[in-house]
Amino acid sequence: MENRDLIEKVTEYDINLRPKKLEEFVGQKDIKEMMNIFIQTALQREETLDHVLLFGPPGLGKTTLANIIANEMHSNWHSVSAPSLERVGDLAAILSNLEPGDVLFIDEIHRLPRVIEEVLYSAMEDFVIDIIVGKDSTASTVRIDLPPFTLIGATTRFGDISAPLRDRFGIVNHLNYYNVLDLKYIVERTSRVFNFEIDEESAFEIARRSRGTPRIANRLFRRVRDFAQFHEHDCKLINLIATQIALEKLSIDNCGLNITDHLYLNTLILRFNGGPAGLNAIAASISEDTTTLEDVCEPYLLKEGFIIRTPRGRVATEKAYKQLGVKNAR
Ligand SMILES: Nc1ncnc2c1ncn2[C@@H]1O[C@H](COP(=O)(O)OP(=O)(O)O)[C@@H](O)[C@H]1O
Ligand SMILES: [Mg+2]
Repeated sequence: MENRDLIEKVTEYDINLRPKKLEEFVGQKDIKEMMNIFIQTALQREETLDHVLLFGPPGLGKTTLANIIANEMHSNWHSVSAPSLERVGDLAAILSNLEPGDVLFIDEIHRLPRVIEEVLYSAMEDFVIDIIVGKDSTASTVRIDLPPFTLIGATTRFGDISAPLRDRFGIVNHLNYYNVLDLKYIVERTSRVFNFEIDEESAFEIARRSRGTPRIANRLFRRVRDFAQFHEHDCKLINLIATQIALEKLSIDNCGLNITDHLYLNTLILRFNGGPAGLNAIAASISEDTTTLEDVCEPYLLKEGFIIRTPRGRVATEKAYKQLGVKNAR
């Protein structure tokens, strides 16, 4: 297969992996129910949907859900990542190109520069922006009217969003980690999209080890499929043996903890005597950046009760000692 075909095929699969309708979005029942009401009533009134803020750890479906919302509202989709907006003009250019009812998705919205965030306030509230043109004594403000639009912001860090910005979102959704059955369902759906079968217990096993995260479930599915296919060329079915071998080779333990999680817990337990230890100290010890640890690694370790956060730092729990097979001498 030509490289180009391969790229197109991969993209096509990725697009298919993302559900397009609210009812295809697995799990997150409360959010789905509420969003359905808000979308249907806005459509009935022929109004734009209120601005929506989606927050939760990476891979839980923020971008997917934002896409679905735009789709269900029959809106045009514009997407931008906050760090790519450097000057007020960057945002003004995007906003002034919007059509009535469009959706503007801003990913990582907690990383918006302050001056740009301030322009968003009036854009969100009154659908106008005030732009300063010219310099010094010739400077004047020009007001640009915008069509009504829906801003959808996504963030892994709710706490880093300023109160004035947060207050301008009429709808705020917190995406939670998925349960094993929802993840199993997602794995089975992915298997159908890839046209590569998986038996039930293998789907369950992948789900169980996916850290409650659809993106990880999909990624593990793809890697397990590679192992199955490599060992048996014509293979079109993933079984439990292939699954277990693959997961072991990928260093995913029976709780779904990966190499970084193990490094983290090992350091906390062996180097810092179980804690309390500060995040910066742990990060420096394992050469990982604090943002990754705080956004990706720790939320799951906290949720599963491997660590707790105290005012003096992170502390390993008995469960963490057990998982690592280290005796707690404290
Ligand atoms: N509720 C869901 N149902 C089915 N697939 C999902 C769901 N949430 C996420 N996914 C899948 O997981 C992957 C990651 O989702 P994404 O929306 O990119 O996460 P985020 O933007 O929160 O990092 C996507 O490929 C998507 O297909
Ligand atoms: Mg995303």
